[in-house]
Amino acid sequence: MSKAQTDNSYLWDKISLRLSMLPQKKALRVIDAYAGHGLIWKNIQKKYKGKINITKIDKEQKGARFVLIGDNTKFLMSLPLNKYDVIDLDAYGVPYEQLKIIFNRGFKGIVFATFIQSALGRLNYGFLKDLGYTKPMIDKCPSLFSKHGLQKLERWLLLQGINKIIIRSHSRKSYLGFEVK
Ligand SMILES: C[S@@+](CC[C@H](N)C(=O)[O-])C[C@H]1O[C@@H](n2cnc3c(N)ncnc32)[C@H](O)[C@@H]1O
Repeated sequence: MSKAQTDNSYLWDKISLRLSMLPQKKALRVIDAYAGHGLIWKNIQKKYKGKINITKIDKEQKGARFVLIGDNTKFLMSLPLNKYDVIDLDAYGVPYEQLKIIFNRGFKGIVFATFIQSALGRLNYGFLKDLGYTKPMIDKCPSLFSKHGLQKLERWLLLQGINKIIIRSHSRKSYLGFEVK
């Protein structure tokens, strides 16, 4: 794994963002769609007062146990999202497809997402198209349209009805939390 793809830089920041936003319930149901070694939710479980049931997904078998193995888009399309309180998208890049599925399927609850844009990282074409940019515009100068990724994500979320987002940023990495009502 390259240095840029360290699974858990800013682990405690991710954990405290989540703890600050979780509703207090006797039992919380969570989809951890990028479970990896399961460190974030293992630590949250130690601090949260209620019980947390976690459905873990990862495309690889890493440290976490009882993981659904495969591309998370497949599982997000088929799991009964209405049975969950929280969906966690702790991605390496921009979890655009995953967010789209969550909104299209009418999930209501808390979403956490990690947004990382590499220096030369191009934003997803579908994502830019949703924001009103056309293919000829993007093809003319792709790097121009890939600038200010986080602001674009905020605009995209606003189009989905999300106007309150908690964001913690460290250079190119941003950790977001919001509620879909
Ligand atoms: C930042 S790490 C997650 C760290 C984890 N949240 C933790 O607490 O330890 C990202 C993980 O997402 C997995 N991943 C990346 N793309 C995926 C996809 N499309 N579907 C499922 N898992 C994916 C990677 O294998 C990696 O384990």
